[in-house]
Amino acid sequence: MIVCVCNNISDREIRQAADLGLTSMGDLRRDLGVGTCCGKCVSCARQVLHDHIESTTVAATELSFRREPAGA
Ligand code: FES
Repeated sequence: MIVCVCNNISDREIRQAADLGLTSMGDLRRDLGVGTCCGKCVSCARQVLHDHIESTTVAATELSFRREPAGA
Protein backbone atom coordinates (compact mmCIF):
# COMPACT_ATOMS: atom_id res chain seq x y z
CA MET A 1 0.00 0.00 0.00
CA ILE A 2 1.28 3.46 -0.83
CA VAL A 3 1.51 5.50 2.38
CA CYS A 4 3.07 8.69 1.03
CA VAL A 5 1.47 9.43 -2.32
CA CYS A 6 3.53 12.57 -2.89
CA ASN A 7 6.80 10.63 -2.70
CA ASN A 8 5.47 7.19 -3.75
CA ILE A 9 6.59 5.49 -0.53
CA SER A 10 4.90 2.24 0.47
CA ASP A 11 4.36 0.64 3.86
CA ARG A 12 6.83 -2.04 2.79
CA GLU A 13 9.54 0.54 2.19
CA ILE A 14 8.87 2.06 5.62
CA ARG A 15 9.23 -1.36 7.25
CA GLN A 16 12.44 -2.03 5.33
CA ALA A 17 13.77 1.35 6.46
CA ALA A 18 12.93 0.45 10.06
CA ASP A 19 14.81 -2.83 9.65
CA LEU A 20 17.82 -0.76 8.55
CA GLY A 21 17.66 1.32 11.71
CA LEU A 22 15.30 4.24 11.08
CA THR A 23 13.28 4.81 14.24
CA SER A 24 11.45 8.13 13.94
CA MET A 25 9.41 10.29 11.59
CA GLY A 26 12.44 12.57 11.39
CA ASP A 27 14.44 9.64 10.02
CA LEU A 28 11.71 8.81 7.47
CA ARG A 29 11.46 12.44 6.48
CA ARG A 30 15.21 12.80 6.02
CA ASP A 31 15.91 9.50 4.26
CA LEU A 32 12.70 8.78 2.31
CA GLY A 33 11.02 12.19 2.09
CA VAL A 34 7.90 10.90 3.85
CA GLY A 35 5.68 13.80 4.89
CA THR A 36 7.74 16.49 3.18
CA CYS A 37 5.08 17.65 0.74
CA CYS A 38 1.38 17.78 1.76
CA GLY A 39 1.93 16.01 5.09
CA LYS A 40 -1.28 13.96 4.93
CA CYS A 41 0.66 10.71 5.29
CA VAL A 42 2.41 11.53 8.55
CA SER A 43 0.05 9.80 11.00
CA CYS A 44 -0.24 6.66 8.84
CA ALA A 45 3.54 6.53 8.28
CA ARG A 46 4.16 6.93 12.01
CA GLN A 47 1.71 4.10 12.74
CA VAL A 48 3.35 1.76 10.20
CA LEU A 49 6.80 2.57 11.58
CA HIS A 50 5.88 2.13 15.25
CA ASP A 51 3.81 -1.02 14.64
CA HIS A 52 6.75 -2.60 12.81
CA ILE A 53 9.29 -1.60 15.45
CA GLU A 54 7.00 -2.95 18.16
CA SER A 55 6.38 -6.23 16.34
CA THR A 56 10.08 -6.83 15.72
CA THR A 57 10.91 -5.94 19.34
CA VAL A 58 8.30 -8.39 20.63
CA ALA A 59 9.61 -11.08 18.26
CA ALA A 60 13.19 -10.49 19.41
CA THR A 61 12.11 -10.62 23.06
CA GLU A 62 10.25 -13.87 22.49
CA LEU A 63 13.32 -15.36 20.81
CA SER A 64 15.55 -14.33 23.70
CA PHE A 65 13.23 -16.10 26.16
CA ARG A 66 13.20 -19.26 24.02
CA ARG A 67 16.99 -19.60 23.86
CA GLU A 68 18.45 -22.43 25.85
CA PRO A 69 20.74 -21.30 28.67
CA ALA A 70 24.45 -21.75 27.99
CA GLY A 71 25.67 -25.19 29.00
CA ALA A 72 22.18 -26.70 29.07
S1 FES B 1 1.30 12.05 1.00
FE1 FES B 1 3.18 12.17 2.04
S2 FES B 1 3.76 14.24 1.84
FE2 FES B 1 1.91 14.10 0.74
